[in-house]
This record gives sequence, C-alpha cells and structure tokens, in this order.
Amino acid sequence: MSIQEPGFWRAGAISTTAVMIVVLIFLSIDSIQVISAGGANVPRYDVINQQIGYRYDWTRRMDVPVIGGPEPLFGTVYSETGAQALIAKGKLVIQSRACMDCHTFFGNGAYYGPDLTKSWLDPAWSQIWMPATGAKTREDAMVMFLMNPDRYPTWTRQMPNLQLTREEAQAAVAYLKWMASVDTNGFPANFGMKQP
Ligand code: HEC
Repeated sequence: MSIQEPGFWRAGAISTTAVMIVVLIFLSIDSIQVISAGGANVPRYDVINQQIGYRYDWTRRMDVPVIGGPEPLFGTVYSETGAQALIAKGKLVIQSRACMDCHTFFGNGAYYGPDLTKSWLDPAWSQIWMPATGAKTREDAMVMFLMNPDRYPTWTRQMPNLQLTREEAQAAVAYLKWMASVDTNGFPANFGMKQP
C-alpha cells in the first residue's frame, strides 16, 4: 500500500482512533478508581469517624491529609452506609442553598467567602468559634455557626443566615469533614499554614 492510496490513510485513521479509544477507556477507569470513595485519593465515607490532620510531604512538596485515630463526629460512630447517607444529605444541603455562589469546593465555586475544601482544618474553629459559641467540639461550633452565621461573624464580609435546621447543618459539617480528608494534590495551596 503506497501513501498515495486513500486506503492507506483510512487504515491509519481507523487504527489511530481505535488505539485512542482504548487509551481513553483505560484513563477513565483509572481516574474513576482514584476519585471514588475508597480510591487512592478519596477515603471511604466512614473516615468521618476519625481524626483528620495534614502534614507537609517533602517528596510531593505539598500538604497531604493524614487520617488519625478515632474521633467520632457528634459523638456517633457511623457505619459506612450511615456515613454515606449523611454526607449525601450534606451535599444536597450545600447544593440546595447554592453555597457555591460564595464558596469554593474542590476548585469549583466563588471566592466571596473562604474556600471550604479544607475548612474543617481551619484553626478558627477552635480559636474563635468554639470560645464564641461556647461549643465543646469543633463540629458543634460549626453547626452553631452554620445555623447562626450572622450572630458569630469573624470577618468584614458576613455570611447570611440561610435558615439551616440542626440536621441540615450537621449533614453539611459531615460533608466538610469528609472533604478535608480528600487528597486534593495540595489544593488549596498552603492550607497547611493553618494549625488546627
Ligand atoms: C452570600 C454568600 C454566602 C453563602 C450563600 C454562603 N456563605 Fe458561608 N460564608 C460566607 C462568608 C462571607 C463567610 C465568612 C464569614 C465570617 O468569617 O464571619 C462564610 C463562612 C463560612 C464558613 C467558615 C469558613 C472558615 O473556615 O472560615 C463555613 C464553614 C461556611 N461559610 C459554610 C457555608 C455553607 C455550608 C453554605 C451553604 C449552606 C454557605 N456557607 C453559604 C458567605 C456565604
């Protein structure tokens, strides 16, 4: 077959397309494995029963989440299905109130308010909001803040009161704790500068 023949080009186009389809399928399966709960970068949902911290990784040159010992959320140890249901509810709360209009999650959203991807690790919960609300734990302070953001402002821009119920606020907090455990390849940069 010479390069003058249309058959040569057709065979080239068909074989290149076929090879690239195989590569695309392989990359898609690989990505899904990495980004699914229980995958390489995303812990299982019941990670909300554990301490979430971070450390600077000198090889990757970025902050990476560290999953520590037991630290039940709201004093409850959730099963994997219970945790998944709670986090799914939190996601619905976050979607239904359009938190993304002001906040960023996993790189999506706005910067009117703080980036929430690692908000669970924000030292302000223990340093400012726990004393302000009188809450004994970080998660209770987060619930109090989310139910009454107008009562506990810390910044020049204020978060409006979105009339969240306690159950809705707790579900949103479970989502935020799980989100902090996800290895986002160091995003947002320098979140490790915050000391929880
Ligand atoms: C109209 C804009 C707006 C919307 C909508 C909004 N927020 Fe906020 N949020 C803010 C601002 C501004 C702050 C900073 C307030 C402060 O520190 O006093 C804030 C702060 C926060 C914080 C504390 C972050 C930190 O680490 O300092 C959390 C958590 C939070 N918002 C969650 C939510 C959730 C969940 C929703 C949706 C249910 C939501 N926000 C909707 C504007 C908004």
